[in-house]
Amino acid sequence: MKIAVVGTGYVGLVTGTCFAETGNHVTCVDIDEKKVEKLRNKQITIYEPGLEVLFERNIRQGRLDFTTDLAEGIKGAQIIFLALPTPPGEDGSADLKYVLKVADDLGHILEDYAVVVDKSTVPVGTADKVTAAIAKNAKVDFDVVSNPEFLREGVAVEDFMKPDRVVIGAENEKAKKVMEKLYAPFVRQGNPIIFMDVKSAELTKYAANSFLATKITFMNEIANLCELLGADVDMVRKGVGTDSRIGKRFLFAGIGYGGSCFPKDVQALAKSASEVKYDFKILNSVMDVNHKQKEKMIEPLKEYFGGDLSGKTIAIWGLAFKPYTDDIREAPALENITKLLSLGAKVKAYDPEAMENVKGVFGDKIYFANDEYDALEGADALMIMTEWPVFRTPEFDKMEKALANKVIFDGRNLYELENMEELGYTYYSVGRKT
Ligand code: UGA
Repeated sequence: MKIAVVGTGYVGLVTGTCFAETGNHVTCVDIDEKKVEKLRNKQITIYEPGLEVLFERNIRQGRLDFTTDLAEGIKGAQIIFLALPTPPGEDGSADLKYVLKVADDLGHILEDYAVVVDKSTVPVGTADKVTAAIAKNAKVDFDVVSNPEFLREGVAVEDFMKPDRVVIGAENEKAKKVMEKLYAPFVRQGNPIIFMDVKSAELTKYAANSFLATKITFMNEIANLCELLGADVDMVRKGVGTDSRIGKRFLFAGIGYGGSCFPKDVQALAKSASEVKYDFKILNSVMDVNHKQKEKMIEPLKEYFGGDLSGKTIAIWGLAFKPYTDDIREAPALENITKLLSLGAKVKAYDPEAMENVKGVFGDKIYFANDEYDALEGADALMIMTEWPVFRTPEFDKMEKALANKVIFDGRNLYELENMEELGYTYYSVGRKT
């Protein structure tokens, strides 16, 4: 099939590349000339494990190309994916200006029947708006379907190639058939394509992300309670996670969720609810708890140094919002660094992938270390913000020599309590005994 993907951000590039991998011809369209130039020169623009091999192969084999010209990009395409940004507007609702602008343009230039697919995370009712925007000027027949993505950064290729499920909101048989054919190679192992009405598909994406954010937040509150009651959240997690109704995944307590999706989507769903006069109480609490959770380590850190952090040097391990990405959007590390600087502390930071992005935020206000041990050199304490595997089994001898005090504030529960006790560390973690 001939496919166009409009928007070559994170979702668009993964989507376009993976569809090319199953034999389709994919043209990715983006208004950013520099980005398109880079992609044409086979330079990948995002960091995502496993993507580069597929990207290079499909360009080489002539199935994946790039353009800034929408009309050229969609020529002959049976399916047009919209993978455009929907940033939060000032009131927290998703801003649809990019999506609707392209929809409007499509109305003018569509030459043949095409299925237009909303891949971006968009509020319920957006497909109707997209349909109306195209229909204003369209001279040919078209269908708009909703096909939310469930990709996790860091494992997006795997999630795309072997999805747990594919959700498609389509209200017309012709469009359903086209989408079924497109996804057939991805569901060979029996994982389902779930067809539904468009609005339910749109809501499914928000419900999934908000539910997962709630699951994490619930465990973070249990962790906070564990600390006060003298229980251990790791034990509670194992105890509850083995109930198949609850499940083992997404129960890890820590310093809150971040990223480009959970914070934005929880906020947007709460806003959508309030627009129809529904007070979605849980979501408001989730946002509130998560906000506080991110700075959870600051108080004990201050207390450890007698209430005054001025002049203290704090080493930070991990800047990305989670491992295997260079994405720092809503990353707890950023909020903590801002807080530490405002309290007069100095910061020495290290992250295996996200340093360049953080340089853009803090410039020379903090020291960017060459590796994890360099960050510790002369530091008064260590704070762990991201669970990169390289931090899990460090050389404790080396750490001891570099750190001025044997104290760790671990926001990701990386170490066993007994080990830390044996090694003589003062060890703060989340929801476990100090
Ligand atoms: C999330 C969803 O998992 C994807 O299904 C969805 O497609 C994507 O958003 C999106 O809407 O595009 P992602 O933001 O890449 O994916 O990250 P996750 O792996 O889900 O992690 C989100 C946050 O939750 C991270 O900050 C992580 O540290 C935190 N988390 C996760 C916990 O604190 N505890 C856990 O047990 C799991």
